[in-house]
Formats: sequence, structure tokens, C-alpha cells
Amino acid sequence: MQKSYRVGIVGATGMVGQRFVTLLDGHPLFTPVALLASARSAGKRYEDAVGDKWAMSVPLPAYAKDMTVLDAEADAASLVGKVDFVFCAVNMKKDAIRALEERYAKLEIPVVSNNSAHRFTPDVPMIIPEINADHLAVIDAQKERLGTKRGFIAVKSNCSLQSYVPLLHPLKRFGIKCAAVTTYQAISGAGKTFETMPEIVDNVIPYIGGEEEKSEQEPLKIWGSVQGGVIKNAEGPAITAQCLRVPVSDGHTAAVFVSFEKKPSKEEILKAWQTFGGEPQALCLPSAPKQFIHYFEEDDRPQAKLDRMTENGMAVCAGRLREDILFDYKFIGLSHNTLRGAAGGAVLLAELLAAKNYI
Ligand SMILES: NC(=O)c1ccc[n+]([C@@H]2O[C@H](COP(=O)([O-])OP(=O)(O)OC[C@H]3O[C@@H](n4cnc5c(N)ncnc54)[C@H](OP(=O)(O)O)[C@@H]3O)[C@@H](O)[C@H]2O)c1
Repeated sequence: MQKSYRVGIVGATGMVGQRFVTLLDGHPLFTPVALLASARSAGKRYEDAVGDKWAMSVPLPAYAKDMTVLDAEADAASLVGKVDFVFCAVNMKKDAIRALEERYAKLEIPVVSNNSAHRFTPDVPMIIPEINADHLAVIDAQKERLGTKRGFIAVKSNCSLQSYVPLLHPLKRFGIKCAAVTTYQAISGAGKTFETMPEIVDNVIPYIGGEEEKSEQEPLKIWGSVQGGVIKNAEGPAITAQCLRVPVSDGHTAAVFVSFEKKPSKEEILKAWQTFGGEPQALCLPSAPKQFIHYFEEDDRPQAKLDRMTENGMAVCAGRLREDILFDYKFIGLSHNTLRGAAGGAVLLAELLAAKNYI
């Protein structure tokens, strides 16, 4: 692995961008050298551009305060030769995001993206590093399509998935027939705080646009395989999802029901979770949790407020595993949506890309 990579953060003033700015403060491999946002923020000191939108629980890092924010669209070409890759988390129309990310890739600047725009582009890998690191192999075909030598796009999955797909994945060996999931999603997932989303106080909102489709379909790409330069989606297992917005600042909870071809014992499920790890653990990547899945024995855990920061917000928590009267089992999952589910998951993906010499 190279010692240090120069990094741009596109969307640096947003909720996920602020997480990147915080997570990369003192990161052992990645040094932020460019912060980019919309034309509204361009030309301002980062601290002024963020203003009272700073939503992290830690102060704005000293290194970033005086950096001048660049225009993500107009200043893209000025990054050539100055950054080794960019993280991207922007709030724009899908078509505009698709075009922006391709533009960076064609400038030979790899893009590690939190956006959904390219998640279903067949030669763009959508990675949960512990689960489908092998999908990085499709990047060669993508570069060929884009006509690039080092530019490409790699994306992470939607934040809702992180609270249940890592828990279902190690159970696939028992033949998952189907799963039903309800997610209870934090307001930071909408880029909001309690100040900017007062309507959520004392409330539950039973609709998050597009979220149920993503929660049902993205796992099938993650469980797919690389064939002939594209990722072919898996045909199953089928997942049905309902996604609710709840008055929680950070941390998505999932209530999961699952049935198997060959019903395992409770002990077999707990052992599959306990022993599950992937490339990030094998490669000792800097942001990898040592133990990916943490099971809580207490009846009232995991709780978003108490447990979302397990292993710096990069682990997935589980609890309340028990037999069900309709399905085989039910359990609860939890993951931090802007750490493991967004910026932290993207940093881990970039560490994997660096370890595998893609960037
Ligand atoms: N929040 C989460 O938990 C989460 C999880 C997974 C994925 N995501 C995805 O990450 C992305 C960002 O989400 P967010 O919650 O961070 O949104 P956000 O807080 O609204 O931030 C949006 C960012 O996009 C920038 N932007 C807006 N229009 C732009 C333009 N025309 N050109 C360049 N930059 C522009 C904004 O810059 P200005 O400040 O200058 O307007 C800001 O930096 C979205 O695609 C979202 O779906 C979010």
C-alpha cells in the first residue's frame, strides 16, 4: 500500500461530507487536499461555507477551516494531478450526479461514491467490503467502457441495508428462503437534524421515498457475481421491506424475519455471526472493525443511542434472536447510518481499493 493518498471530498459541506472531513482528520493513508461543493459555497472558507450547518458532535477539524471550497462542477479539471481520488456525496438530480461522477472518472480521478445514481450501472461495483470485495474485478471492464487508464467509479450501498444484509449474509449457507424487514431510520439519513426536521419530534413517518425499492433490490446486486464484464444480480433470496423514519439522530435499526431451506439452530446462527469476517479484517484495513458483528444477549439491546458507536460506528449490532411462529427466526439489527452506512463505509471501501492497487 502507498503511504499517503491525496483526496478530494465532493459534497464536503453536506451531512455525509462533514463526516468525511471528520473521519479523514489524521487518517493514516488519506489526506484531504480539496473540498468541493456547489457554486453557492465555492470561493468561501470551509468554515464559512458550512456555517451553522455543522452537525457533527466533534468540532470542525482545524485542517479544514481555512481551506477554500471549490466548485465541484466548474473546478473539476483543476484537480487533475492534485488528487489521487475523490469521495463523492452530493445532493443533486440523479442524471446530474451520474454525469458528474463520469466526468471525474474520465479525468482519470477515481470516484468512491455514496450516491445512488450509479448503483445499478452493471459495470460499477456496489461494495460492502466484508461481503463482496470480489466484485472489484468488474472495474477493468468499466475502465474499458469509459476509455480510462485509472479513472473509475465504485459505490457503496444504501445505508438501510447495512443494518440487515451483513446479518443475513453469513446465514446464506443455510439457504435463506425469504426475509421480511422493517427499518427504523435515523433523521441524519435524510441529511437532517432535530433543528432542521422539527416534524419528526414525537412522530414516526411511514414513508421514505425510494427507500423500500433500494432495500429490496440492492442486496441482489451485492449477492450477484461478475460475469462477462458486468455484475449479474442474484435471483434471491427475496426480501420485502418497509422503511420508517423515526425520531433518532443517528443509527438505523432493522426488525428482521427470516426463513430457511434448512433451518439452523440458534447456536449455529450465533456462531455464523461470531466468526464472520472478510477482506477488511484479513487485510487489517485501518477503518475495519475487529469484530464485524456484535451480538447482544440483553433483551433490550442493541439500542441506537447506546450501541451505534460500537467499534467507532463501523460494526453491525444484533440482538433478540429467537424463533418465530410464521418465519423460522426473528432478530434485531443496528448500524450507524452515516458511519458504516455512509462516509465510514466509503472510507473502508477506499482502503480496500488502495490495498488492492486500484487507486
Ligand atoms: N445522510 C446519509 O446517511 C446518507 C447515507 C448514504 C448515502 N447518502 C447519500 O449521500 C449524498 C449526500 O447526502 P447528504 O445527506 O450529505 O446531503 P446534504 O447534507 O444535503 O449535502 C449535499 C451536498 O451536495 C452539495 N451540492 C448540492 N448541489 C450541488 C451541485 N449542483 N454541485 C455540487 N455540489 C452540490 C451541497 O453543497 P452546498 O452546501 O454548496 O449546497 C452539499 O455539500 C446523497 O446522494 C445521499 O443519498 C446519504
